[in-house]
Amino acid sequence: MDFNLSEEQLMIQQAARDFAQNELLPGVIERDRDQKFPAEQVKKMGEMGLLGMMVDPKYGGAGMDSVSYVLAMEEIAKIDASAAVVMSVNNSLVCAGLEKFASEEQKVKYLTPLASGQVIGAFALSEPEAGSDATSQKTTAEDKGDYYLLNGIKNWITNGGTASYYIVIAQTDPEKKHKGINAFIVERGWEGFEVGVKEDKLGIRGSDTHSLIFNNVKVPKENRIGADGFGFNFAMAVLNGGRIGIASQALGIASGAYELALKYAKTRKAFKTEIINHQAIAFKLADMATQITAARMLCLKAACEKDAGKDISESGAMAKLYASQVAMDTTIEAVQIHGGYGYVKEYHVERLMRDAKITQIYEGTSEIQKIVISRSIAK
Ligand code: CAA
Repeated sequence: MDFNLSEEQLMIQQAARDFAQNELLPGVIERDRDQKFPAEQVKKMGEMGLLGMMVDPKYGGAGMDSVSYVLAMEEIAKIDASAAVVMSVNNSLVCAGLEKFASEEQKVKYLTPLASGQVIGAFALSEPEAGSDATSQKTTAEDKGDYYLLNGIKNWITNGGTASYYIVIAQTDPEKKHKGINAFIVERGWEGFEVGVKEDKLGIRGSDTHSLIFNNVKVPKENRIGADGFGFNFAMAVLNGGRIGIASQALGIASGAYELALKYAKTRKAFKTEIINHQAIAFKLADMATQITAARMLCLKAACEKDAGKDISESGAMAKLYASQVAMDTTIEAVQIHGGYGYVKEYHVERLMRDAKITQIYEGTSEIQKIVISRSIAK
């Protein structure tokens, strides 16, 4: 595995770093406090090509590789994990799925505006009673000939209130279990489709998370993605790639907290010396640096495998499982190193600690990642 980054990859990393410092850092504390979606910043991310990074330029994308995506995601998440999840969902769950599996007409109509960042998308799989157990979909899509009738509720949908297009997973034929599930492209504003309550969350408070309500929504047949019954396999394939995005978000949260803790430890004095000179603090930083490097390697390995067209179910799950644990551990220690300052908003690390937790939950909990990994290694 060769991680010697190309000039282009380093340029993308630097551009994302500069953008995060100049555009995301100002106001990040206030957006977290007020649960304010970073609308202007997301628009600029679209203009920079960060919302459709790996999509072919002929469909409005930036035509970059997955390694560049990991590098950019880390830089964005270091500063604003909420903007990072908007980016991850649009890139990995929405654009990547459409590019790989949608029809040419669907790509022209939906992928192009999504990849170029003119609009953003959402991915609606989770339900009040079907999160990890994704085959137990209660949302129904009844086949009515030239359209499907969509009924049900989706929960915790990232970009739920701001998206223009939604990929919705629903059950068409319960007898066929997961083979009876379909995926559809649904437009905001269609009759019977309502954006429900906005969640008041512990972390990633700048991203907007909503329930979605479908009440006899007519979805034209041409908006089904792939063949009849392909929806569950579609969702699984898309989530494999999504896990690289969330792993990179977790990596960014960890490295953001580490950089702040290192800087603080080099300047804060206690017992007549900078606290980094106390082994109790230095060893914490040594652990953080080691674990972050290992998490970065796992993210880059999964990205390299994706770029090589390999099956990334195992490597993506490993990257997410490990990086999300590192995000949690690192942010807790970063708060500890900051002492009382770490507990107040101004120093950023308490926000990163709150943001870290979701990376162990969404796009497959850590327990689900262990199912995926253990099944893969048992094969
Ligand atoms: N990659 C590709 N295909 C997979 C797969 C994977 N990782 N895991 C399962 N499949 C396929 C299987 O091959 C099988 O297909 P075939 O019948 O064609 O062979 C099919 O899916 C069913 O597989 P299983 O019998 O193994 O299914 P299961 O019921 O045991 O569940 C699971 C498998 C891995 C637990 C799956 O349900 C899962 O991943 N659950 C977690 C769902 C999830 O990540 N939810 C997050 C919501 S999205 C989100 O958070 C978005 C957001 O807004 C941020």
